[in-house]
Amino acid sequence: MNNYLPGNLYINTADYYDYDNREIIKDDLEFYVEYARRTKGAILELASGTGRVSLYVAEKTGRNLECLELSEAMVKRFQHKLETTHRRLRERVNVHIGDMSDFKFKERFEYIIIPWRALQYLPEQEQTIKCLSRVREHLAGNGVFIFDIFKPRTYDEKWLGREDVSYDITVNGRRIIRSTVNYAADTVKKTIQYKSRYRIMGGGVK
Ligand SMILES: C[S@@+](CC[C@H](N)C(=O)[O-])C[C@H]1O[C@@H](n2cnc3c(N)ncnc32)[C@H](O)[C@@H]1O
Repeated sequence: MNNYLPGNLYINTADYYDYDNREIIKDDLEFYVEYARRTKGAILELASGTGRVSLYVAEKTGRNLECLELSEAMVKRFQHKLETTHRRLRERVNVHIGDMSDFKFKERFEYIIIPWRALQYLPEQEQTIKCLSRVREHLAGNGVFIFDIFKPRTYDEKWLGREDVSYDITVNGRRIIRSTVNYAADTVKKTIQYKSRYRIMGGGVK
């Protein structure tokens, strides 16, 4: 088992994850489909969240997906989405609770993906190396492995403490504003920390 503390596990916020409608949240989807088409067989997605990429790729490629995710709340949200989608899709996507640095599947995959910076959720280099070793064990000889990481930048006084709104939407009479407040940066380890802030107004909630 891991001896580090997992960070944000979305316990109270998984239901708000998919409201983020920015272009940046959508413009990687076709990329994952394009590379999927260069491979065959089932696809493995690590840190799959609520299935943002998984469902799109499964729909577009008609392939089976195995999805691994640490947060029970995110898995619950993902499963809810599967239950409310058509059976053809539901039957091809399996979601598992687990740690991307410590997992085992019986098969090998020609296509393994870790979208949207999720690899950088592993706080220690040791965990990252373990994850990459597990990927290597599970990747077929001619396989493709894609992970997405953000570019290291300079995090200065202007960045620290700044608040950026990710979305401001109204759903069923409730206004939901999600923002991030930059909290800490380690330019050597190339990690950043921010606090997510959710403001929910109306519909009996304030
Ligand atoms: C920013 S979300 C990205 C989710 C999804 N890949 C997407 O593109 O929408 C990062 C996800 O990584 C998950 N995660 C963090 N640490 C993990 C770990 N050790 N193993 C598996 N998933 C993990 C989080 O719970 C979260 O759902």
